[in-house]
Amino acid sequence: MINILIFGPPGSGKGTQSVKLAEKFNLSHHSTGDMLRAEIAAGTELGKKMSSIMSKGELVPDEVVIEMIADKIDSTKGVAGFLFDGFPRTVVQTDELEKMLNARGMKIDSMLVLNVDHDELVKRLIVRAEQSGRPDDMDPAVIENRINVYKAKTEPIIEYCRKRGIYQSVNGMGTIEEIFERLSGMIKKILK
Ligand code: AP5
Ligand code: MG
Repeated sequence: MINILIFGPPGSGKGTQSVKLAEKFNLSHHSTGDMLRAEIAAGTELGKKMSSIMSKGELVPDEVVIEMIADKIDSTKGVAGFLFDGFPRTVVQTDELEKMLNARGMKIDSMLVLNVDHDELVKRLIVRAEQSGRPDDMDPAVIENRINVYKAKTEPIIEYCRKRGIYQSVNGMGTIEEIFERLSGMIKKILK
């Protein structure tokens, strides 16, 4: 089993690419953002508590997402590996993920970081706002806050992964297909 982090700021294409990569390489795709939005859509107590945090573009508490991921790791079978999208988001989450995987004889094998210019991120999210219905896409100030939260709380994970020799940078500019080809080439090497 291989474990890959798809990493990058809001709008960098993590979700778009993860869906395609999961299908191509038989990977199980886990997006904590999607899981949280499913809780909100289902009207659960957890969803109600998390929705105001998410609509401001702040991070939900570490323990909430760690529990969600732990459940998925134990219930997912019959795949070549995991693709984590939007998780981990803090160094604490990264430590916990590593511990969870180590306890099961696995590790984080690779971190693929999508690099996209700031203006392109904003442009993509404003376009998406029209169809997504995501409250955190509707307000340009919230988009900026998400990018700032990424820089302050999430980017430090890059250094953590660089020290472990698993960090790889990817050009996230271009068409969806071009970026998919780049990522596919990298995953083929990881699977060898
Ligand atoms: P999350 O759902 O993870 O959102 P995000 O990080 O803000 O990222 P996005 O989903 O907006 O972007 P993406 O990189 O997936 O890009 P996408 O492929 O969609 O998190 C939402 C919230 O949940 C957080 O703010 C936080 O509150 C909470 N949360 C989630 N996980 C958490 C965690 N672990 N800890 C704490 N809190 C957590 O692409 C964006 C758009 O661009 C799409 O419309 C797409 O069609 C388009 N697009 C993609 N690629 C291209 C391209 N190459 N060219 C043109 N358009 C493109
Ligand atoms: Mg996403």
